[in-house]
Parts: sequence; C-alpha cells; structure tokens
Amino acid sequence: MDLELSGKKALITGGSRGIGKAIALELAKEGVDIAIAARDLDALDSAARDIAPVMGRRDVGARAFGPGLRARRYNLSGIGRNLVAVRADTTSDEDVQTLVEIAADELGGIDILVNNAAAPGGLVGGGLAHANTDDLLADIDTKVVGYLRCAKAVAPYMQRQGWGRIIIIGGLAARNSGTYSGLRNLSLVHMTKTMSSELGQYGITVNTIHPGTTITERSGPMYEAQAQQQGVTREDVEAQLASGIAVGRIIDASEVAYVVAFIASPKAGSVTGEAIATGGGVGSAVHQ
Ligand SMILES: NC(=O)c1ccc[n+]([C@@H]2O[C@H](COP(=O)([O-])OP(=O)(O)OC[C@H]3O[C@@H](n4cnc5c(N)ncnc54)[C@H](OP(=O)(O)O)[C@@H]3O)[C@@H](O)[C@H]2O)c1
Repeated sequence: MDLELSGKKALITGGSRGIGKAIALELAKEGVDIAIAARDLDALDSAARDIAPVMGRRDVGARAFGPGLRARRYNLSGIGRNLVAVRADTTSDEDVQTLVEIAADELGGIDILVNNAAAPGGLVGGGLAHANTDDLLADIDTKVVGYLRCAKAVAPYMQRQGWGRIIIIGGLAARNSGTYSGLRNLSLVHMTKTMSSELGQYGITVNTIHPGTTITERSGPMYEAQAQQQGVTREDVEAQLASGIAVGRIIDASEVAYVVAFIASPKAGSVTGEAIATGGGVGSAVHQ
C-alpha cells in the first residue's frame, strides 16, 4: 500500500530520541520532510544526523539560525528534501510559537504534528503520601497543556490548507491504575475527541496512539539496573515484562512508528477521535 506520505511535512516534538526519533525516521523513510524539536539542541543534532541518511544524504552540513541560534537546518540541497531541528520547551507558549513558525517556514507548511514530548512514566510514580503536586502539575503542563499548545499553534496552518493530521502519543497508563502521572494520558483521550470534533470539518484528523512498555535507547541500561537490583539477569527482567503481553514480547519503538505512519497517511482519513494501543495486547481489560 502506498501511504501517499511523500512530500508531506511533519513536526515531531520529542524527536531527539526514543519513540519520537523512531517516528521521525519512519516518516522520513516515507518521503516526509521533518522538523524535530526538544530542549537539548545537541541531542537533536545527533538525531538529525541519523535521519539525514534515511532521506538520502550522509555527512550533512548544518547551519544554525533563528532567535538565540535555536535551530539548525541540514543541507539536503540537490535532493529536494528538508530537515530542521529546533530547540524548544513545549511548556513555554513563546517557545512553541517560535518552533511552529520556524518549522512551517523551513518546511513550507505543516501537514502532520506528532505530539510526543514528555517524560516516559511521568514524574509521580509513588503512592499518595509521596505524590508531589508540583511534579504532577509539571507532568500535566508538559504532556497535556504542552500538546494543546502545539496543536493550537499548528491548527491554523492545517485549517488554511484543508488537511492535517494531529497524532498524540499517550500511553497505556491511561487504561491502568498504578501511578498518578497516568492521569495525563487519559486527559489526552478527552482532548483528542474534543479536537477531532472541532477540526474534522477542515480535513484534520486527531488520534491518540497509546504505547505500552516500549523498547528505546533507555531500555537496555534500565533493564540492566533493574536486574542488578533484583539479583536476576537482564533476560529475566525482559521475560517478566513480556509475560504480561499477549504477543509475548516487548514492542519496539519502530513498531509504534509504523502505526503512526499509517494514521498520518491520507489513507487513514476515516479514523479520528480514537485511541489506538500499540502495547502488543498487554493486560486483559476489554475496551470499547
Ligand atoms: N517508552 C515507553 O515505554 C513509553 C510507554 C508509554 C508512553 N510513552 C510516551 O511516549 C513519549 C515518548 O517517550 P520516550 O520513551 O521516547 O521518551 P524519551 O526517550 O525520554 O524522549 C522524550 C523526548 O521528549 C523530549 N522532551 C521532554 N520534555 C520536553 C519538553 N518540555 N519540551 C520539549 N521536549 C521535551 C526529550 O528531549 P529533551 O529532554 O532534550 O527535551 C526527548 O526528545 C512520551 O509521551 C511517553 O510518555 C513511552
């Protein structure tokens, strides 16, 4: 199936590593021009240098530009593609506004927004007695309000062109009790449906993708540390995690990216306002 993504333009927040970077790589492979954003410009630079070869250019030069030299444009001249990295904190209205202006200018518009920037697991992991309210507000500011900031800034571009895809990376903590930070993922489901109802008339779809436990660059060291703590092997830790997953293995970030690429495609125009899990069938609860 041709996903018809070639020539589209995507902004991916949290694109410097993990799931966001995997999504940027997958969309780039599909012929999409890419803007990635995060707070650490060096990490963005390193991700951009991994993305450029997928777009057809190795050893790219970069030019810094923008207020406070917060952006880098990668030299893909001659192959008709665009790649840009922008330092931005999605908890700041001003940063988000500047980010979206730079991305739209550099790419010539924005067709796809992937809202992904947030701390996996969130900041409030303990019980009620230890739940820090400032941490919970920070979680909500980054993941719920941060995603809304980006959607609010990008939507006018999509409305003007009469087409767009807003993809919200949530998390399966939305469907399980356990951590207070999990409530941010459920809030995203409500926001998804509300936005999809408002923006559908402009040809814009809005969907949440809920990853479960997902393998990223963080996973190896994290499983090693858990194994040491528990006095078991890393393989034991991985087997324990996989045992609760219907497909019997931990899902890789690239597999989340495949689903995002489909939802970003013009072929997925019938899907909006939905929350789609990519956790490999973890858990036994039934969801309508
Ligand atoms: N990995 C999992 O198992 C898993 C499971 C369920 C859901 N998720 C969700 O998937 C998304 C990505 O997770 P991940 O595992 O890929 O995380 P990660 O490897 O820690 O990457 C997070 C990305 O977001 C950026 N970021 C964080 N806060 C930001 C802010 N305020 N402004 C701009 N950028 C920010 C980070 O860069 P800087 O720090 O440089 O800003 C980084 O690029 C998150 O929404 C997470 O909750 C992950």
